[in-house]
Amino acid sequence: MIRAIAITGTPGTGKSTIAELIASKGGFVPIEVSELVDGIRERYDPVQDTFEIDIDSIRAALEVLLDDYRSHDRVPIVVGHLSHLLGPDLTVVLRCDPGVLRERLVARSYSAAKVQENVEAEAIGTIIAEAMGTKAEVFEIETHEDDPDLTAQTVIGIVRGEGDLRERYSPRRIDYLESLAREL
Ligand SMILES: Nc1ncnc2c1ncn2[C@@H]1O[C@H](COP(=O)(O)OP(=O)(O)OP(=O)(O)O)[C@@H](O)[C@H]1O
Ligand SMILES: [Mg+2]
Repeated sequence: MIRAIAITGTPGTGKSTIAELIASKGGFVPIEVSELVDGIRERYDPVQDTFEIDIDSIRAALEVLLDDYRSHDRVPIVVGHLSHLLGPDLTVVLRCDPGVLRERLVARSYSAAKVQENVEAEAIGTIIAEAMGTKAEVFEIETHEDDPDLTAQTVIGIVRGEGDLRERYSPRRIDYLESLAREL
């Protein structure tokens, strides 16, 4: 895979919003993993209300797309909650306080079970743990306080190698379990 950035995080943490803002500033091309997956959906799981996806099939579809960008002077941003598993060099994990995330997901009319599953995954830190198990450099940014423009600027600064931002947003064991417990 050529130098590519992943923007990952639990659904609703702000990946697409941030990727669009970054792309609008030039030099970056967002690739939504969900769009890649459309052609390669596998078995529907009614319990989880999701499609089971084979990660190797997504990787293969992504490679074809990245070949298209190789000749252009653009950095692909691979966007989605599986993007950290697709071989990026740099991964930004967006995080969100469980209470705020719940509000965002309820506003989308997700089923109660799907809201709960995602809120718990965020509180436990499932995606940051997965991302830290990859070879990519990993950064972690919370999106429940700053506005999207500021978060996008932060990501651009990290990608450009600004040392103070890289230090500030290194993974730092965010613990949302207390926040989750307060909701119960
Ligand atoms: N700092 C922030 N960064 C990103 N999004 C934010 C921020 N603050 C508030 N939001 C809001 O949170 C919501 C995030 O939705 P978005 O569709 O971008 O999430 P997503 O991670 O792409 O979800 P999915 O995995 O389902 O595609 C938007 O309504 C956005 O305006
Ligand atoms: Mg999205």
